[in-house]
Amino acid sequence: MFQHLEPYAGDPILSLNEAFQKDPRGDKVNLSIGIYFDNDGRIPVLQCVRDAEAKMLAEGGAKPYLPIEGAGAMRTAVQHLLFGTEHPAVKAGRITTLQTVGSSGGLKVGADFIKRWLPGSGVWISDPSWDNHRAMFEGSGVAVQTYPYYDAATGGVRFDAMREAIDKLPPRSVVLLHACCHNPTGVDLSPAQWRELVPLLRQRELLPYLDLAYQGYGDGIAEDAYAVRLLADSGLTFFVANSFSKSMSVYGERAGALSVVCSDAAEAELVLGQLKATVRRNYSSPAIHAAGIVSRVLGEAGLRTAWEADVAAMRARILAMRSSLHATLTAKKPGRDFGYFLSQRGMFSYTGLSAAQVDRLREEFGVYLIRSGRICVAGLNTGNVERTANAMAAVIA
Ligand code: LMR
Repeated sequence: MFQHLEPYAGDPILSLNEAFQKDPRGDKVNLSIGIYFDNDGRIPVLQCVRDAEAKMLAEGGAKPYLPIEGAGAMRTAVQHLLFGTEHPAVKAGRITTLQTVGSSGGLKVGADFIKRWLPGSGVWISDPSWDNHRAMFEGSGVAVQTYPYYDAATGGVRFDAMREAIDKLPPRSVVLLHACCHNPTGVDLSPAQWRELVPLLRQRELLPYLDLAYQGYGDGIAEDAYAVRLLADSGLTFFVANSFSKSMSVYGERAGALSVVCSDAAEAELVLGQLKATVRRNYSSPAIHAAGIVSRVLGEAGLRTAWEADVAAMRARILAMRSSLHATLTAKKPGRDFGYFLSQRGMFSYTGLSAAQVDRLREEFGVYLIRSGRICVAGLNTGNVERTANAMAAVIA
């Protein structure tokens, strides 16, 4: 029955993370996957999350199915977090939000919706982008193409080329944009560049699809929602998939959401209906435990304050690791400019290392990063950063 199947080559990120777990070396370093590790190399369980869970346990509620669209408290909390409680689009009811199975679940539900209701539309993703963006949209039957983004020469954005490419897209094309902390490069658009993009998106009648997986890891929780709020202010119709995996350190809870900003409340209701149909056909309804955590942490004042402090501390630790990596590499290789480690934002940096150099790092030094040269800076700590920098310096010609 199944002998004709092609073997699965494995996912470039998840398979590497599994290979790391199996590596017996005691001094190995995991910079492969986008997970925040604390200075002791552990995935933290935030106290606010523990407290939310303790409350849930004490309440001892039943565990019914959630509605298809998820828990009402979480959906409202997500809208307020992303857009601000007082945003006119929130008040007008022209945003519809669904709790989804991680933001990946949201991205996929949105992709299926686009295939069904905008059947001629293709999606354009940044070059490069998170590998799974292509896989998900292609999996939904949506054609995927790229727009220029990363400038290897400067370690910044090829904004003019990006704008020119977007200016040529057919109407109703979907433009996938990383709202902050671009994955894999760590290179973000500036507020001024976002503002330049908005009229273009409107004139070309394009459909922006924002991916907001690292809110709080860039410049701050509200600051990282800049693009989301700007697009909502401008009256554009758009999608935004957001995740709590990193910001609440709840990866396996699959806590995410999908919001669609529509032209009015009636359209939002129509969109909600068809998104519910899409979810029902896929996974029926999302996870109750995730909803309990997110709605409590965002909605209860004490937990919210603690969470904001946790996010600030995680962000500060990553910035400190960026500085250490930069300082050691600059000392080792004084002729080279490693300033991009300081200007790039969020968990990731693009090192410019070739696949062959990445292979050497893994094989000779036990330092794991994906073959594109992306590192997860959040895998560095005071105990391994110097060794990692030395290993990188050794493979750089
Ligand atoms: C990553 O890019 O490493 C993370 O988003 C984890 C994943 O699922 O790929």
